[in-house]
Amino acid sequence: MYMKRNTIICALLCLCLAATAVLAGCGSSSNDETTAATTASTVDSAKTDSIDYMALVNKTHALPDDWEDKLETVHMTNSVGDDVEVEKKAYDAYLELKAELEKEGVYVDLDSARRSVAEQQRIMDDFTEKYGADYAAKTVAKPGYSEHHTGLALDLYLIIDGKDVVENEDMIQYPEIWSKIHAKLADYGFILRYLDGSEHITGYGYEPWHIRYLDNVDTAKEITSKGVTFEEYLGAYTGGPVSIDYGTSEIYTEDELKDAVIQIKCKFAFWGDVDLKSIRYAGDEKATDEMLAKMNEINPDGKYTQVAEFLMDFHTPKEIGELTFNPDADYTDYQWWLARTADGGWEIVTFGYGY
Ligand code: DAL
Ligand code: ZN
Repeated sequence: MYMKRNTIICALLCLCLAATAVLAGCGSSSNDETTAATTASTVDSAKTDSIDYMALVNKTHALPDDWEDKLETVHMTNSVGDDVEVEKKAYDAYLELKAELEKEGVYVDLDSARRSVAEQQRIMDDFTEKYGADYAAKTVAKPGYSEHHTGLALDLYLIIDGKDVVENEDMIQYPEIWSKIHAKLADYGFILRYLDGSEHITGYGYEPWHIRYLDNVDTAKEITSKGVTFEEYLGAYTGGPVSIDYGTSEIYTEDELKDAVIQIKCKFAFWGDVDLKSIRYAGDEKATDEMLAKMNEINPDGKYTQVAEFLMDFHTPKEIGELTFNPDADYTDYQWWLARTADGGWEIVTFGYGY
């Protein structure tokens, strides 16, 4: 989630969490949730053609071309005074959800919903400048490819004991509150979009605050009860079960290797319909000082302290698009070189054959 005013503060916090793929959040503070005001100003009430509430917008599916012509939004002012634009029906459903949650003593507000392509570009530019393209790609959708463009994606924040809890790393500390929220989403036609453990499918880390409106309670309930991502529900994810082998390492714990694999899966999510088969740790014998020096040569800014190699098997689709692989081909032992920065975070330094 990205607040307009606090992007810089948020970005600094994000840096500390780069290794975890839990995105640092942005927010502002206010102690009074009762100040939230809504100025429902319908942008264009004369529109007759409806948007497709089941449209998939993700790393490989752009916002449909004619979306803006059909989209009807309202503006609201959240508890910290920010203007938030939301698709009309999604907003009505959100208000019902919010009222229901309040009965259980759970208070939420809207941090960000509809974002223009220009706004997303500004966020992307900020992150790219501060952290580099790789990190930005893991945390911010490419302009034109953010679900926020639809107006149907809502980033919530929590209000606990009258205090706004808006930073992602703070919000993530309240799993029991998120559970209560998530349990109610489908009743109002929403799903949780970026599920824990589905980074390799969605391309993004767990975002308990990012919900998506589908305008269909039954469908939302079906997706939720199956525990699948929107991609899987729509059949847009073609990857089968991925075998992951962390091997045995005396250098890294399995959790450390898992963190590294998450980085690979997130990057891999950009490869569209390429079918990921397996990822395995190449072994401690590959984690040499010589390779560490090579990684630091490739990216001197990284100031890397440790290195690891992973090997991947995958199969490419018939329509290869912009990727520079052969179509419909098996690739085995494809190399991924990751290095660790002083704070323990993993970065992908390079990948391909010949290292
Ligand atoms: N953080 C989500 C993925 C976005 O930028 O759309
Ligand atoms: Zn979001």
